[in-house]
Amino acid sequence: MKIKNVVLEHVVGVTTKELPGTASPEIAFAGRSNVGKSSLINALIQRKSFARTSSSPGKTQTMNFYKVNDAVYFVDLPGYGYADVGTDFRKSWGPMIERYLNGSDNLKTIFLLLDARRTPNTDDLQMYEWITAAGFEPVIVVTKTDKLKRSQIPKALKEIRNTLGITGEARLYTFSAISKAGRDEIMEEIDEITGQGGREDDKD
Ligand code: GTP
Ligand code: MG
Repeated sequence: MKIKNVVLEHVVGVTTKELPGTASPEIAFAGRSNVGKSSLINALIQRKSFARTSSSPGKTQTMNFYKVNDAVYFVDLPGYGYADVGTDFRKSWGPMIERYLNGSDNLKTIFLLLDARRTPNTDDLQMYEWITAAGFEPVIVVTKTDKLKRSQIPKALKEIRNTLGITGEARLYTFSAISKAGRDEIMEEIDEITGQGGREDDKD
């Protein structure tokens, strides 16, 4: 999918808690705070800082629906596992995410982002379970691979698979927001999921 335009169309969580009920396929990005969700979205849409990112965790506290090419939504979910966000936010986070996972007719896939340098923790496992319990097959994106030596990556992937209990085939990608390695593969997966196929330079 060649990116032609992107609009932040819905923000859920502050002034409204209503899910927008969109008429297009939605792809959501979940993961621990600071894992790189907003950075991945920026790389996918080829904008430097359209989705706001921050080195301090807890940046995205709303569900942000970015509409891409009038055809697909990328949904930036607020991260979990950051202790320092307000109590109100912490309390509302779980119900908000579960409501979305179970209540959106157009949600096609949830990408679960995991930091290449960390063993998935109980929050990650819980998220993984929520995703599968809601009937989705999670797609894993291992982020920040630039922080590891190339030779360390297979071990990190193995650790992640083992901790999540993934055996056999799984849709698992690696990504670096610095080098953009992995970006095109992830975009191809999204194209397949949303039916927006064709090579990036096919259409304009
Ligand atoms: P929340 O909105 O708090 O949930 O965080 P997030 O998951 O959206 O993370 P965000 O994209 O804001 O990135 C957090 C920090 O990690 C920022 O300082 C990014 O620049 C940095 N970062 C994100 N992806 C990568 C990556 O692939 N490599 C490196 N080295 N840094 C990254
Ligand atoms: Mg964010």
